[in-house]
Amino acid sequence: MFDRLSERYSAAYTDYACDLAGVHAGEQALDVGTGTGMMARALGSRLGGSGKVLGVDLSEGMLEYAAERGRKLGLTPHIVKFARGDAEKLEVADSSVDLVTSLFLLRHLPHPELAAREMLRVLRPGGRFVVGVGSAGPWVSARGTRYRARRLRVLVEERLGLSLLAPQFILKMVESHLCGEPRLHGTEGSSALSTRSGPRTEALLRKTGFTELRSSWRGHVDGIEDPEEFWELSLHFSSAARYRILGARPEAVERLRAAFLSTCNQVLDRGGSLVYPHGAWFVRGRRPR
Ligand SMILES: C[S@@+](CC[C@H](N)C(=O)[O-])C[C@H]1O[C@@H](n2cnc3c(N)ncnc32)[C@H](O)[C@@H]1O
Repeated sequence: MFDRLSERYSAAYTDYACDLAGVHAGEQALDVGTGTGMMARALGSRLGGSGKVLGVDLSEGMLEYAAERGRKLGLTPHIVKFARGDAEKLEVADSSVDLVTSLFLLRHLPHPELAAREMLRVLRPGGRFVVGVGSAGPWVSARGTRYRARRLRVLVEERLGLSLLAPQFILKMVESHLCGEPRLHGTEGSSALSTRSGPRTEALLRKTGFTELRSSWRGHVDGIEDPEEFWELSLHFSSAARYRILGARPEAVERLRAAFLSTCNQVLDRGGSLVYPHGAWFVRGRRPR
């Protein structure tokens, strides 16, 4: 499910990050927090048969899936390899990599500054990086302003009962339906990058010692027609809601799901829409020569 949803809603970000990375034949690339390997595969297919990509992730399940997809495409293990590893303590030699990429990882880490330091360490002097984090658009850009205007319209429609937003709607439903339910321990913390994540990520990378930093932003407001898909997507893109659901009793989750789907159907019957606004902030730069 992660890969299906990621491919549908994140493929444009992966392509954009590949364009920013400008990967060349013969290069050694590292994708940190590779998940199901979408970025690693995209980089591998642009290496034109020479060069290597290593995709690192903490989750065995993600890596198994990533390797299987890579094999089906004929990329793994000759060009793209996957290995278990911790972004905050990479088992990769100093100055051994031409390009580091990392999409939608830093906000999930307890110590994003350690991961940034590791990325700097493994890059050769002059080596490039591209980091992407989920983030609202900047105010001072045409793209960001258009996105915020569309999002504002959706928020007004939401007030009028004519739209539901992901993941805000599931978070509200979780609060009202699961307030007395057990919670998973150890999932309360919020990342240092959880607010203003784009500018904060850029500041973190600058402080780490990267140079020639440039930021850009891409975003989309997608309409979803199927309430079941809206449910899956809402959980997929909200770790907070997912953790609450994992801790709750199955019967409480089933009641929540039924109420969620019923509200979605009511909104659709009224001619309204189910909306997922999303955006990502990309920072690229280099390790100083
Ligand atoms: C939101 S997913 C993004 C996956 C992928 N980059 C993408 O864009 O589809 C975050 C990934 O980071 C991984 N992750 C979390 N903590 C990690 C860590 N300390 N080291 C390496 N990977 C980690 C998770 O297992 C998950 O696959």
